[in-house]
Amino acid sequence: MRIGIVGGTGGMGEGFALRWCFGHDIVIGSRDEQRAKEAANKYKITAQEAYGNSMTGNITGQDNFSLAKSSEVLILSIPYENTIDTCNRIAKEVSNNCVIVSPIVPMTRTDSGFIYIPLEQNQKPAAETVADILAPRSRVVSAFHSISEVKLKNIRQSLDADTFICGDDPNHVAIIENLVSEINGLRSVYLGPLSLSYQAEILTPMILNAAKRNKMKNPGIKLVH
Ligand SMILES: NC(=O)c1ccc[n+]([C@@H]2O[C@H](COP(=O)([O-])OP(=O)(O)OC[C@H]3O[C@@H](n4cnc5c(N)ncnc54)[C@H](OP(=O)(O)O)[C@@H]3O)[C@@H](O)[C@H]2O)c1
Repeated sequence: MRIGIVGGTGGMGEGFALRWCFGHDIVIGSRDEQRAKEAANKYKITAQEAYGNSMTGNITGQDNFSLAKSSEVLILSIPYENTIDTCNRIAKEVSNNCVIVSPIVPMTRTDSGFIYIPLEQNQKPAAETVADILAPRSRVVSAFHSISEVKLKNIRQSLDADTFICGDDPNHVAIIENLVSEINGLRSVYLGPLSLSYQAEILTPMILNAAKRNKMKNPGIKLVH
């Protein structure tokens, strides 16, 4: 599968690339093509050292527009503040069959701790904003909000965590559930349609507040039953 990562030069992008290049063709995206290629080369060396000959995928770099045209799955690994601008810029480029993934967490820091911006400022959840611009909303899937970048990048570490996943189209959700299952120790837990994405997004400021106050290092979330 060809997986494009818009903003793939950031920490989450690196983690996604290192985990999925084992069996997929990963394209790192950036506003700057050269930066994308440099990051891709760096990640590829790390991946080859870890996986050796068993790695069947690849990591390359392109500008965000070029990869939006050719990706089967497109991960929007960009800061919340740049969501509207970036989606507007790539909207015409994204192919019709592409599944778009939002791991975006609308979060900021205040004196009392991390807060979820849509709740405080009466705004839409990030995935709803993405779906408004990159319609049809059925191709948007929301996931990966509560995964620590530090753990994701450490290929040898099992994540030992769940990620909540929301989406309107079962086929598109299934594609992303499969990708989740390929990450060591990560389980997807389906929450429901995209309209429930706020419940997944709001977990991240909660986890970060708990981590800070209780001196926990990169905690995740796991449902027990
Ligand atoms: N970090 C985590 O542990 C974590 C965990 C769960 C979810 N998330 C979510 O995942 C997403 C990515 O997180 P991250 O920590 O990897 O983000 P990041 O490192 O802050 O940014 C990712 C990339 O976005 C691009 N970018 C920066 N400013 C931009 C702008 N003005 N317009 C367009 N692109 C811009 C940059 O790439 P170029 O400069 O190369 O274009 C940057 O490398 C965020 O929405 C975050 O909320 C993060």
